[in-house]
Amino acid sequence: MTDLSTQLEKPEESSNEAPQGRQKATSSMDRVPALGYRNYWYPALQSHEVKSKPVHLKMLGDDIVFFRDAATGAAHAMADRCPHRNASLSLGKSHYPGTLTCPYHGWTFNLKGDLVAVLSEGPKCAMVGKVQQRVYPVEEFRGFLWVWMGDMAAVPLSEDLPPELNDLGTSLFTDVQVWKANWRVVTENTDGYHAPILHLESMPRTLYMDWVSWRKITHAKTDDGLGVIHVEIDSADTDEFPGLGVWPKIPNWKRAAKNFFGAKVGHGRRITLPDGRTGSITEDIHLPGWRRVQVRVMTTFVEWAVPIDEHTTRHVLWDVVHADKNAGPVRRMMKAARLALFRYLIYPTYWRWAYNKKYVGQDKDVLESMYQGPEYLQANDAGILAWRKLSERARGYKRGS
Ligand code: FES
Ligand SMILES: [Fe+2]
Repeated sequence: MTDLSTQLEKPEESSNEAPQGRQKATSSMDRVPALGYRNYWYPALQSHEVKSKPVHLKMLGDDIVFFRDAATGAAHAMADRCPHRNASLSLGKSHYPGTLTCPYHGWTFNLKGDLVAVLSEGPKCAMVGKVQQRVYPVEEFRGFLWVWMGDMAAVPLSEDLPPELNDLGTSLFTDVQVWKANWRVVTENTDGYHAPILHLESMPRTLYMDWVSWRKITHAKTDDGLGVIHVEIDSADTDEFPGLGVWPKIPNWKRAAKNFFGAKVGHGRRITLPDGRTGSITEDIHLPGWRRVQVRVMTTFVEWAVPIDEHTTRHVLWDVVHADKNAGPVRRMMKAARLALFRYLIYPTYWRWAYNKKYVGQDKDVLESMYQGPEYLQANDAGILAWRKLSERARGYKRGS
């Protein structure tokens, strides 16, 4: 899967240059489709959310019904709108193994989407065999139902998953929220440099994360060419802005408290770029829209913005705790103890509140407030432009199609 490579990509657009005079507003977000890239697997519902009753879920603009075959327990998905007179199949039932029946007039579909009976019109109904309902390939993996949204033949699920999910040695802590923002702005929240500003007042930054005045960000491509890595090549913890003063403005008592506790989480893993510059990885972002942030040494945020419609996104967040594969028996035991501590104490009492609700909540608030339209991009946005340009590499995607 994706390795973080050191290939530096030259920004294609002028925004990486120093501003000369007045800038022109541009608009390049629409390189990326407002309803997402279709020919990929996406996380849909969590396994425990689909039991014996069918469940409706909207994804990438499609209304889908998820249900389990009573005979096998396997999960299936098909278009939710009944082709007869448009009732929602999610209100229906599986009266017979391997089928789903519409609640209104009893149109009954098998798992391939064939209309196999019309219960309201008898076994000889002429419509039988003449109507096909769209079905979506579904796989169940790591607590989620994954659905293939494409019109091409489905690729193996593992091809579209972040490495942290393919690696069965990781422990996942899952949190799903619905945000009132388009998936593109949610995905572009992984920009490599907003965190020291937006999250300045957050609990983690107050207690143990470095304060940063500014960052200079460049970007590299992932080895497979399907992702963008944001790389911090320069930064200052504190600086003086002409006519304004020092930034960030941190009260002395906060600085004293952080020094007292001494806990600090600084910059990400170092990499060397092909031009010899070194930097540290802040975040990366990968087609069709999953991203990763290294939070602490042991933990990675993996996030996936799944489009619901043009204005709403399902924000799937996995706090991933990594396994230490080379650990001996003693370290493995210590690791298991730390994981249990995280699972039963830190995650439910602090982490979920401090990160998933409050810290990520700051992102949610600002993203839900955003307008869409022309932008004045700054030099640090070159990685965002590179992400938008990746649309050219998206599987089965043609702009305007
Ligand atoms: S609307 Fe579904 S059977 Fe009539
Ligand atoms: Fe953020």
